[in-house]
Amino acid sequence: MQTESHADEQLTKNIILVGFMGCGKSTIGRVISQQLNYPLIDTDVMISKNAKMQIPEIFKQNGEDHFRGLETDLIQHLSDIEVAKHVISTGGGLPIREENRGLLKSLGYVVWLRASVDCILERTGTSNHRPLLNTPDPRQTIASLLTERDPLYEACSDLIIQTDDLAIADTAHGIIESARYYFSKS
Ligand code: S3P
Repeated sequence: MQTESHADEQLTKNIILVGFMGCGKSTIGRVISQQLNYPLIDTDVMISKNAKMQIPEIFKQNGEDHFRGLETDLIQHLSDIEVAKHVISTGGGLPIREENRGLLKSLGYVVWLRASVDCILERTGTSNHRPLLNTPDPRQTIASLLTERDPLYEACSDLIIQTDDLAIADTAHGIIESARYYFSKS
């Protein structure tokens, strides 16, 4: 069993969480951030803060393409300033752009949090802050977006975790241990 100070020496880059809406990126990100004592960057929170607008408002006023541009600008900036020893939780569509996938990989250890359509539907069902799921048939929307996006998440990930039946603490523990191993080899 390794100590936390050992972890600090080993985990020299960032841990980045990618995956579809409702897969637990923000929650798991918070837990890992607390356990490692690394600051958490949530790309949605940062974009919203910088734009002084909530995400649905940005989509409504400026459209999805504009929002995707803000995502690219943000991770390009994080890469430019060589951010390190952070946990970065990303919006579900951030890996869609090829340039973003390259930037994510260069920023550190990328973990894809997966979940089934049923699980995503259950976890996102009561929220109305996700403009892409405001459709007459969210189940169908989730299924078709997953078909499009799964290969893109996979293309930029170092680790894949199916979260449906996992407790948050177990997912967080698995990520930290895998990241330690990954960084010890690189
Ligand atoms: C989006 C996911 C959202 C947010 C925006 C678009 C997407 O983030 O960035 O609504 O395209 O999947 P979460 O994955 O944190 O819900």
